[in-house]
Amino acid sequence: MSDNTPVDDLTKDQAQAELKRLALLLSRANQAYHGADAPEISDAQYDALKRRNLEIERRFPELEQSDSPTHVVGAPAAEGFRKIEHSLPMLSLGNAFDEDDVRDFDTSIRKYLGLKVDAPLAYTAEPKIDGLSLSLRYEDGKLVHAATRGDGRIGEDVTENARTIKDIPEALKNAPTVLEVRGEVYMSHMDFDALNKAQKNAQKKVFANPRNAAAGSLRQLDAKITASRPLRFFAYAWGQVSEPLATTQNAAIEHLSELGFSTNPLTKLCESPDALIAHYQDIEAQRATLGYDIDGVVYKVNDLGLQARLGFRSTTPRWAVAHKFPAELAWTRLEAIDIQVGRTGALSPVARLMPVTVGGVVVSNATLHNEDYIAGRDSTGGEIRDGKDIRIGDWVQVYRAGDVIPKVADVDLSKRPKSAEAFVFPKLCPECQSDAVREPGDAVRRCSGGLICPAQSVERLKHFVSRAAFD
Ligand code: IVH
Repeated sequence: MSDNTPVDDLTKDQAQAELKRLALLLSRANQAYHGADAPEISDAQYDALKRRNLEIERRFPELEQSDSPTHVVGAPAAEGFRKIEHSLPMLSLGNAFDEDDVRDFDTSIRKYLGLKVDAPLAYTAEPKIDGLSLSLRYEDGKLVHAATRGDGRIGEDVTENARTIKDIPEALKNAPTVLEVRGEVYMSHMDFDALNKAQKNAQKKVFANPRNAAAGSLRQLDAKITASRPLRFFAYAWGQVSEPLATTQNAAIEHLSELGFSTNPLTKLCESPDALIAHYQDIEAQRATLGYDIDGVVYKVNDLGLQARLGFRSTTPRWAVAHKFPAELAWTRLEAIDIQVGRTGALSPVARLMPVTVGGVVVSNATLHNEDYIAGRDSTGGEIRDGKDIRIGDWVQVYRAGDVIPKVADVDLSKRPKSAEAFVFPKLCPECQSDAVREPGDAVRRCSGGLICPAQSVERLKHFVSRAAFD
């Protein structure tokens, strides 16, 4: 089974096998990202896997396992650190990827609360900082411990490390007797560049991005190393508190700011989904000049009484959502087009690309969808709807969002070299030379060789042994 069989087309057996595969991929990805501070896949790829897992579980609720990735946050606390059990779990956020998801978020909250469409309902909107979350516990105004998120229940004790961060006060005046402040540790672009230069000169490890640098710097067994790294902290939430900070999210954040915490200046109160989207666009426009990495905008119900009524799902609050920025795009040269033959005989064009980094991962292959997408014109010269006229040697745009497989999304005709060659889609199967036939109305050309085709027989065998029934 390929990575992108639509969820609606999966049989129950296939869905079960796919859930198993996704659980394995997600647990590996979690360990690499949270445990080793060295991600192996991009955030967009991770989100796509998680979304696919969720969609399959929604379609087949009976297949959802108690240890499903849907119930997992982060990775267990690493060896070497003392462990701290969070007094309240440190959770994750659900994602919204487009405007419809944002409107659905508002609609489902109204439904849950029994609010009419036109009843007032305010949200805060603030940048989603791309760092690592930290929980700070103050007792009688003194910082007593600091813990990373870990698996959401038990985190790593990084108290001495946190004490070296300038944005984290050692003592608070007029604070509640017990106050847990939660927020994000991050590194600015300038500090990241300077750190990497210094690391390089000293022939030490160079970090892939500011998030890894921040995580690697905080999660040090020797706090002196953390002290030498310029980490920062934004407060955006709280855990246990002996008395309420305020009655609204906005006022609570204002209270944290008065206590001496850095809070994000782009936090805004919004009265409608339209206002949320407008602020999202405003923040997105400033993204490149903020000086630190953000990967979306977080929306939270402003009224804390309503937050309490809405409560939590297994790992995410119902009252908040992260509206993610779209995955990154990159331009590169199309070096060749290969044809792959699938289990059903479908001939799929695959772009071989000059390797390019898209959202932190090197991409050298991407799907070109089908014959028409590449061609642009049919055999009579007529224009094909959605056809791009993509030729070998062209500059193409690679896109990787919401799907595990990167896609060729566009072609820059103005950069077409004279030597660019039109691709002739094969009429014979490249594996067994049988006729490759395209039925009227079908976008896909298929090998007619059946089991005499080695590609089809291997793919069918793979499919057969991958079935849960065979286990
Ligand atoms: S609120 C109950 N606000 O995003 C969850 N989280 O993907 C409260 N994050 O674990 C989290 N910026 O590490 C919140 N402004 C922000 C954030 C933010 C970054 C992180 C946080 C969280 C993760 C979820």
